[in-house]
Parts: sequence; C-alpha cells; structure tokens
Amino acid sequence: MTIHNLFDLSSKTALVTGGGQGIGKAIALALAEYGANIIINYRSNTALAEETAVQIRSLGVKCWLWPLDLAEDNITEKLNTFIITHDCPVDILVANASVQIRKQWDQITDEEFATQVNVNLRSTLNLIQTVVPYMKEKQWGKILNIGSVQQTRPHKDMCIYAASKAGLVNLVKNLSVQLAPFGINVNNLAPGVITTARNEEVLANPDYNKATMQKIPLGFAGKPTDCAGLALLLCSDAGKYITGGDFFVDGGMSLFN
Ligand SMILES: NC(=O)c1ccc[n+]([C@@H]2O[C@H](COP(=O)([O-])OP(=O)(O)OC[C@H]3O[C@@H](n4cnc5c(N)ncnc54)[C@H](OP(=O)(O)O)[C@@H]3O)[C@@H](O)[C@H]2O)c1
Repeated sequence: MTIHNLFDLSSKTALVTGGGQGIGKAIALALAEYGANIIINYRSNTALAEETAVQIRSLGVKCWLWPLDLAEDNITEKLNTFIITHDCPVDILVANASVQIRKQWDQITDEEFATQVNVNLRSTLNLIQTVVPYMKEKQWGKILNIGSVQQTRPHKDMCIYAASKAGLVNLVKNLSVQLAPFGINVNNLAPGVITTARNEEVLANPDYNKATMQKIPLGFAGKPTDCAGLALLLCSDAGKYITGGDFFVDGGMSLFN
C-alpha cells in the first residue's frame, strides 16, 4: 500500500451538501479527483450546481444533483428515497451547507433562529442518521462537518450561526466515540476567512477587509481549495486513525480574540 493509494476513493460515493459552489465545490472536486462518485446537494442555484456537476463528471466519475433546502422537514426520508432511486449508498458525508444571518443578537427573529439551527444543526443530525446504516453495513464511513472559526471566536453579528457551529463540534465529538466501533470516522474542519460568495460583499468594504486581515496571522484570506487537502485526508484511508478531531484551516485566525 503506497501513500498515494491511501487517498484512493474509487468505488466510494460522497454526499457534499452545499457542493454547488464555494468550499463544498472545492471539496467535491478533490474527492472526485481521487475517484469518488459525488452527490451534490444545493438549495436553489441550479446553474452553478450543474456547472460543478459537469466539472466533476469530466474527471471520469458519476455525479448526481440533489436539490433540497435543508431547512425542510423529513430530510431522512427524502435522502433515503434519493439513495434508493439512484442506487447510490453514501460512504462519505461532507456536511458543508450552512445559513449565516448577520444581525444584532436582540434583533434576531424566531424564524431566523429556526432557519439557522435547522439547516446547520438539525439537518446535519438528520443526514448522519440516514447515512450511518449504509456505512455500518460496509464497516467503513467518513463524516466530515464543516465548522467555522466562529465555533470558538464568535462574531458579534452572527451569534446564532456561531452557536450552531459550536453545537456541531460537540455533536462531532459525541458521535465520533459512538460510531468508532463501526469503522466510521467523524471530524470537524473549521475554516477561517475563505473567499466565497457569502463574504464577497463584506470583504469588498476596504475598512472591514483591513480589520479582518489584521486578525489573520498569515495576513490573507484563504481560497476554497485551501480546505480541500485536509478534507481529502479526513475522508480517505489516509485519515483512518483520526476521529473526533477539530481542525482549523484559518491562517492562524483562531489564535486571536
Ligand atoms: N467562506 C468562509 O469564509 C467560511 C468561514 C467559516 C466557515 N465557513 C463554512 O463553510 C461552509 C461553506 O461555506 P461557503 O462560504 O463555501 O458557502 P457559499 O459559497 O455561500 O455556498 C453555500 C452553499 O450551501 C448551499 N446552501 C445554503 N443554504 C442551504 C440550504 N438551506 N439547503 C441546502 N443548501 C444550502 C448553497 O446552495 P445554493 O448555491 O443553491 O444557494 C451553496 O451551494 C459553510 O458551512 C460555512 O459556514 C465558511
């Protein structure tokens, strides 16, 4: 077995939520490059998801699109129907999609609270509940949650988002212990500032940009591909002995207050 072979994902199927763009897309392409078939979940941007699917298929693997707003109910039932219809049992889950609402803590409505908690926390649990039986059957599975520096360094304008990310770290650690006997690894990858559509507008503000870059020891924002190498490690046999881990990809930002 060579080191290269440890990254081999051929014959595996990975579900990447929010895989149509940004960090999810970069991770989906990395897993596909190493041979995994990919299910891309996204909410509404069909054009971007289709473009991503074309890029993934050009790597010689299969790619299915699964459009679903993860704020919806009955995710378990919907994912199971998709898996059975397309005969694509999931070996790797990358729970990447999230909703992030910027608002002062005392202005957040019940609806905004529910959307963030449902998409970020509840849907992740529902997805894990659905894929684990398939993983247990093979005694092999990788679950990777995408967290955030905000899980430990919350931003004052995103307190519910930050709280949901903190909750996810706890869920990852809890389930990593419970699923370890079944050959299933559960880890958390926490990005810092990564340039994607969600922060394009705020980072275009020179004052905000300057203040943000000053909080990053490496001094610059990351790109989605900067998250892909670690994700590949944690989703392959190269990361077989890593579980319950919480890893920052943040240029050192989590070291600051
Ligand atoms: N970018 C950063 O600086 C940063 C920093 C820390 C953590 N993160 C975390 O990294 C992950 C990816 O972030 P990103 O910046 O790559 O995001 P992004 O570029 O905004 O892309 C988000 C993706 O998630 C999908 N999505 C959003 N809400 C959804 C929902 N309710 N149901 C299903 N899919 C949904 C979107 O689908 P559509 O394309 O259809 O809208 C899109 O594909 C998130 O968990 C985020 O919290 C990002």
